[in-house]
Amino acid sequence: MPTAPRKILVTSALPYANNSIHMGHLVEYIQTDIWVRFQKLRGNHCLYVCASDAHGTPIMLKAQELGVTPEDLVARFRSEHLRDFSRFHIEFDNYHSTHSEENRVLVEGIYARLRERGLLAWRSIRQAYDAEAKMFLPDRFIRGSCPVCGTPDQYGDSCESCGATYAPTDLIDPRSAVTGTTPVQRDSEHLFFSLGRFESSLRSWTAAGHLDPSVARKLEEWFAAGLKDWDISRDAPYFGFRIPGTTDKYFYVWLDAPVGYMASFLDLCERRKNSPEPVDFNDYWSEESDAELYHFIGKDIAYFHTLFWPAVLEGSGYRKPSGVFVHGFLTVNGQKMSKSRGTFIPAATYLDHLQPEYLRYYYACKLGPGTDDIDLNLDDFVARVNADLVGKFANIASRCAGFISRLSGGRLAPALGTPALFQEFAAAAPLIARHYEAREYSRALREVMALADRANQYIDERKPWALAKDPARAAEVQAVCTDGINLFRLLMLYLKPVLPAIAQRAEAFLGAGPLHWDQHDQPLLDHSIGSYEPLVTRVDPAAVANLVAATRAAAAPPAPAAASAPEEKPVTIDIDTFLKADLRVATVLSAEAVEGADSLLRVTVDIGSEQRVVLAGIRRAYDPATLVGRQVILVANLKPRKMRFGTSEGMLLAAGDDAGIFLVTPDSGAKAGMRVR
Ligand code: MSP
Ligand code: ZN
Repeated sequence: MPTAPRKILVTSALPYANNSIHMGHLVEYIQTDIWVRFQKLRGNHCLYVCASDAHGTPIMLKAQELGVTPEDLVARFRSEHLRDFSRFHIEFDNYHSTHSEENRVLVEGIYARLRERGLLAWRSIRQAYDAEAKMFLPDRFIRGSCPVCGTPDQYGDSCESCGATYAPTDLIDPRSAVTGTTPVQRDSEHLFFSLGRFESSLRSWTAAGHLDPSVARKLEEWFAAGLKDWDISRDAPYFGFRIPGTTDKYFYVWLDAPVGYMASFLDLCERRKNSPEPVDFNDYWSEESDAELYHFIGKDIAYFHTLFWPAVLEGSGYRKPSGVFVHGFLTVNGQKMSKSRGTFIPAATYLDHLQPEYLRYYYACKLGPGTDDIDLNLDDFVARVNADLVGKFANIASRCAGFISRLSGGRLAPALGTPALFQEFAAAAPLIARHYEAREYSRALREVMALADRANQYIDERKPWALAKDPARAAEVQAVCTDGINLFRLLMLYLKPVLPAIAQRAEAFLGAGPLHWDQHDQPLLDHSIGSYEPLVTRVDPAAVANLVAATRAAAAPPAPAAASAPEEKPVTIDIDTFLKADLRVATVLSAEAVEGADSLLRVTVDIGSEQRVVLAGIRRAYDPATLVGRQVILVANLKPRKMRFGTSEGMLLAAGDDAGIFLVTPDSGAKAGMRVR
């Protein structure tokens, strides 16, 4: 019995408009798009909105660096993102921007309501300030040596080497990533949102099953740690919305970003006002709404979406999400994406070498409802796509289509040869639908591929190619191949959310209009089909190798040393400044691991006149025993740095990026103590 269509609004996180879309982002947009396509295929009323996340310090600074306005920068990336998404068949019903009038109006409305309800308060806080750039510095824009392990050039909030988290004031020799100057501390008034007031309602929302158990557990930890007030303001200069009634205070990007979901939806409502399919804003967002609302996000932004966002919605009189679907992070070949390994692959580079649907299929094979990271193993990718899509799925159609066109004038038989087999395929529909609905894509595809094996096995048993040799058995050939084409058709239907372009070509071949879920129990009989063109071609492993090579080549040339900021602006220094560095040839006398510091070696060197002890972040690259006797270059007049594990009296020069660390050594003949220029 047909049930009434559901009203569903779906979002993916709004990508920042200052970087290109890469393979990691695509996990999310592909995951969401599959779910939305599945809902639409089932006949539900489902809308998918997204937008560019336009505000914040990084976007402001990047625009400055490029000499364009932030608006221009956002517009440029917005259209690039849209182009990439559409080439991956990610189909939004609307794609807006957080820097829009709709968003400003909604944000100001939310602000007014929160204020009326006494949920906001101004309070003075002390923060790092760059006196040269005349701006407060977000933690990410302060860099210095890690207070725990001493690794140089770490972010103000956490260390990439030892994983420690800390306050920017804990950094050893902190400096501004904007100007390189030492930040000073300065007071400023900030606006705080009373998150703690929502604890009990957030607890009941969490308990009501809106989240995957793994996410709910994370929330328990956050509740246990205590919900602190949330700072929702930033000082000028800032690219964002000015807080009404102030001259130099802006809403923090993370306040207006999720409101961007509503703004994009509002923009959709405006666009559709006079269309045959109007949508009403309040129908979806009012507290009484009976529509479903789902946000797909990555685990890095779960706090914003599962605590701040529902609290802000409740505080301003809107409905809360029906679900927040959190996915894990992408690794490539088991490791974090890396520019130097060629695995930090932009979406556009992928498309220069490979078909989008290969990736959609591969990700779907790996995706479940949980927050586990997912791995794109490039060898497995080639093997999987070729085995499943080419070897199993498309093979069914290609084995049967020729006989139908040659022996039956392109016409399917008036009846199935083996109706029971078709019934078996049709009967799988509810289970496959349940898997898609629950975001258990890997399970859905396992079912589909098991059916594909069954179909191939059937064709193997009936051997139409052998039967076709006997003209008297033409009807039998037609019946077997009619079965095969009908089994293929159901598999195509089940795969349609994942493979929309292939589905379109298959629909053209079948000549019976767009496939719809309801048709899963109706075979296509006594019907003329088109001529078969290969639906999927094999992935060429060489194309994958080329993709990695192209990605590696396009990555920025390696940074000069492990110690320099990857995004540091180049500065020119005069020769006198350079000569202030006292660089000396040094001979390693001893080297040993530093207990408790994964990345450090304690290296004692001789520089002719004296010995020095250096704590060097090279442990991952060098076995200490191999260093003894080796000549290296020491920065001899570096101010000694106190670290948790002792004092470091200088620094060893090394080249490096994520490919590794490489100590610099003079040619043989150099003597300890020689000056290096
Ligand atoms: N602008 C914010 C989201 C605001 S939503 C109101 C943001 N943007 S982002 O561009 O950094 O990320 C967009 C989405 O892509 C996020 O959900 C993020 O988790 C996801 N991913 C970014 N890199 C990823 C991987 N390497 N792997 C998987 N997902 C990743 O966050
Ligand atoms: Zn550290």
